[in-house]
Order: sequence, then structure tokens, then C-alpha cells
Amino acid sequence: MKIGIIGTGAIGSILASKLSAAGHQVKVTNTRDMATLKEIAAKLGAEAATIEDVVNDVEAIIFSIPFKAYKDLPKNLLQNVPQEVIILDTSNYYPFRDGELAGLEGRTESEYISEILGRPLIKVFNNIMEYTLQHKGKAAGEEGRIAISVAGDNAAHKKVAAELVDVTGFDAVDGGSLAESWRQEPGTPAYCTELNAAELQQALAAAQKGKGPVARDAVMQKFQSFPPFPSHEEVVAINRSAAADM
Ligand SMILES: NC(=O)c1ccc[n+]([C@@H]2O[C@H](COP(=O)([O-])OP(=O)(O)OC[C@H]3O[C@@H](n4cnc5c(N)ncnc54)[C@H](OP(=O)(O)O)[C@@H]3O)[C@@H](O)[C@H]2O)c1
Repeated sequence: MKIGIIGTGAIGSILASKLSAAGHQVKVTNTRDMATLKEIAAKLGAEAATIEDVVNDVEAIIFSIPFKAYKDLPKNLLQNVPQEVIILDTSNYYPFRDGELAGLEGRTESEYISEILGRPLIKVFNNIMEYTLQHKGKAAGEEGRIAISVAGDNAAHKKVAAELVDVTGFDAVDGGSLAESWRQEPGTPAYCTELNAAELQQALAAAQKGKGPVARDAVMQKFQSFPPFPSHEEVVAINRSAAADM
């Protein structure tokens, strides 16, 4: 598959290398000059592209940039991108990092991003941490395989997103519609808690509307009492306990 990835940070770079290693034709972009981008892309097994080129002649586009950066993307970036091209989004909103954003109140993070992009999208790879994505993938069917939630309104696009999740080493679980995607946002039981498929389904069902942001902010507070920063396993434990307190 031809895939364009916007963002070569923690998540975008892991996705680029895993998808390229799995035989997909990947091009990437970020905010750097072309010479630097080419060096980064080469290490990921991808091609370097400008922001305009990365969305051209591809079957899927993965946005993996900070939540606050979407509003600064070129306007009408996807205007000439055919509707069948699958738009995937990995983003999460953290107020301490992204600030207050007009228009976010009262809807899911993905609905907000979808409106900025002017396109429906699939929310995926948001409820898995960088470390987990990099180190904890397993072959399909292997005991203890961690699952990732896939939310969106287009069943065919969700199916392809689930296949991409599978090649990165994880099970995909249906997270429902974009309007339901609050169930996999930060602070929910499904968020970065390293669950298998059955557990993730239960966690998505157990989420309570409006509680995620409270638990998300409580988690960030707890992190501050772990100088300099909690270990990966401690982060997972904190995420699980914050969600359980909901
Ligand atoms: N880190 C995690 O564990 C994790 C897990 C799941 C989901 N997420 C979410 O996934 C998204 C990406 O996270 P991350 O940790 O990978 O972020 P990151 O490490 O900060 O990387 C962000 C990337 O976005 C690029 N970028 C920013 N603005 C851009 C623009 N206008 N045009 C093109 N590229 C742009 C940056 O370019 P430069 O390299 O040039 O600066 C960078 O490559 C975030 O919304 C985050 O909440 C993160």
C-alpha cells in the first residue's frame, strides 16, 4: 500500500519503519528542511516528501503530529485527495501541552480534527504508548498480544486500519464511531493500559462519558511525584489505576 505519514516524531517514525518493513511504500514529512528530512526518512525506510507531496498518490495518510499543530497545517491540504484515501489520526489532546483550543468543547478530539481536515477520519494508534508500539508487538495469535482501538464511521476504512494495526504487531478492536471515540481518549480505561483484545473491548464499554479528562489530568499530577519520570511499567500501572478510580 502507498502510505503518507505526516510527523516523524515518536509515533510517526515507529509507524513509518514498521509499515515500510512490512512492505508498504511509505513517504514521510515533518517541519525540517529537505536535506534533514531525507536523512530521517532514509533511516525509516521511507521517502522524504513535502507536506503537499506526502498526501499525493497515496492510499492512506497517517497524521501523527501534536494536537495543537493541526490548525497550522496548510488550508485545504486534502482538497485534491480522493475520498477513498483513508485518513488516520494518532493524536491525543493534553491541555497542559496543547493549550485551550476553541471548538474542542463538547465533542470528541477526532471530531475536532476531522473538521479541521475537512474529512472523515479513523482514530487509531492513539491508545498505545511509544514504548509499547516499539517493543511490545507480537505475532498474530500469540498469547498476550496487546490490542489497539480503531474508531471511525467508514467500515471499509476501519478494516484497512485494523490490517495496519495487525502488521505493526497488535490486535485491532472496534472502538465504534468517531462520536464514540471519547472511549479511547486519554484518561479512559482503554487508554495506554496495555490490554488484550477481550480486555480492551470491556474497557471501551466501561468508559464513562466526561470522566476521561479528569483521570487524564490526575495521571499527569501523579507523574510529577515520580522524579525524574516513572518507568514504563509504572506509567502503565498509573494509567490502569486512574481509569479504575473513574
Ligand atoms: N508519544 C506517544 O507515546 C504517543 C502515543 C500515542 C499517540 N500519540 C499522539 O500522536 C501524536 C504524535 O505524537 P508524537 O509523540 O509522535 O509527537 P512528537 O514526537 O512531538 O512528533 C511530532 C511530529 O510532528 C511533526 N510536526 C509538527 N507540526 C507539523 C506540521 N505543521 N507539519 C508537519 N509535521 C509536523 C514534527 O516535526 P519535526 O520533527 O520537524 O519537529 C514531529 O515529527 C500526538 O498527537 C500525540 O498525542 C503519542
